[in-house]
Amino acid sequence: MTVAADPFEAFDHSTGSGIVRDPYPRLAELRAASGGVHEGHLDDAFGVPRSPEAEGPKSGHYFSALSYEAVTQVLLDGETFSSSGYGKSMGLVMGHSILEMDEPEHRRYRDLLQPAFTLKAMERWEREVVTPIVHRRIDAFAEAGRADLVRDFTFPFPLEVISSMLGLPDEDLPAFHRMAVELISIAIDIERGLNASQSLRDYFAGILTERRSAPRDDLISLLAQADLDGERLTDEDIFAFLRLLLPAGAETTYRSSSNLLFGLLTDPAQLDALRSDRSLMRRAIEEGLRWEAPLTGISRWTTRDVEVCGTSIPAESMVQVCVGAGNHDPARWEDPERFHLHREVKPHIAFATGPHTCLGLHLARMETVVALNALFDRLPNLRLDPAAEDVHITGLTFRAPRELPVLFDRAC
Ligand code: HEM
Repeated sequence: MTVAADPFEAFDHSTGSGIVRDPYPRLAELRAASGGVHEGHLDDAFGVPRSPEAEGPKSGHYFSALSYEAVTQVLLDGETFSSSGYGKSMGLVMGHSILEMDEPEHRRYRDLLQPAFTLKAMERWEREVVTPIVHRRIDAFAEAGRADLVRDFTFPFPLEVISSMLGLPDEDLPAFHRMAVELISIAIDIERGLNASQSLRDYFAGILTERRSAPRDDLISLLAQADLDGERLTDEDIFAFLRLLLPAGAETTYRSSSNLLFGLLTDPAQLDALRSDRSLMRRAIEEGLRWEAPLTGISRWTTRDVEVCGTSIPAESMVQVCVGAGNHDPARWEDPERFHLHREVKPHIAFATGPHTCLGLHLARMETVVALNALFDRLPNLRLDPAAEDVHITGLTFRAPRELPVLFDRAC
């Protein structure tokens, strides 16, 4: 298979970007026709080429959970629906991270990482890391009166946040982002993914050695000193977590903040409502995540025969868990395809649920609050460039607009 030279482009394409514009009507059909669990692989239902290298489930069966009820049943039952299958895909390049662990191992490791991601910890990250990075980014285009908010803002800032939390030098950022995207492109180019994994390992090894001898106030130092039942985390444990953090923390937040901005910029009345009443910010963020989840699907593997919403699933099957479809279930949300700031607040599942609920959810929310407030405060009359053609969100598994061309009055 030919892989585009640009790893960002290749990754986007493999996740349905440019092929699938709006998956929600078809997902609604599949959900309605199946009662919540569709038998089959979603890539096939959407004409997205399947990755030739990916190893299939032993039973040979694929299922897709599409209703809110089916998705939550799967995600809340980690014994029946194991995460260990990631070991044969993402795990090949990330190492043995919490993403592919089941209980009780998962909980032990997750508890070690949790302190850096609590609401309390966010106060410091917001002040010392996120706010300065967001404003530095805006400084770079505020005088111009125009920008592409994806290229100039939402794409770069979440990765800068992660690397700053880790305590990495600024000049390493571009290479670092490239390696992170290459890492998760394993399904389309296994060789490239494995090379990126090794390069990241070598890169982190040098920094970890430094932090072990001279700890600082950063995440790598915290991991170097973390204690697991009286033992230190091994270097490989730490590399696996660090490798996971890059795509988990950067890809998703760039996409979710872009999707929310798209929803607002294409609906000026809702944009004005939020700009003039910031108490609506949290609502806007949760509705943006529900409406256009940046990562629409995750996976689980059955450890036994099971029934979900009337569909029998044999052991050793792969279940695609479509949180995006669950978030658009009309049984839970009225008029689910609509981005609506004032809809009744109900928890969504863009961050999953159950034992693997996103560890970075407070960080992602805080980053988005800081980013949007800064844009609204500093860029008066922010609006979509009327000359821009056909700006839209695209993708099946990962979704985002490719560009957000905007105009604004010259900034103060
Ligand atoms: C809007 C942004 C984000 C979304 C929508 C999101 C979504 C998700 C989802 C759906 C999962 C479950 C994966 C699975 O079980 O297969 C997950 C797990 C995870 N996320 Fe996020 N995420 C976001 C931001 C972040 C950030 C900013 C970080 C950290 C810097 C992060 C770190 C993690 C980690 C470490 C896990 C693994 C948790 C575990 O396995 O116990 N995420 N995320």
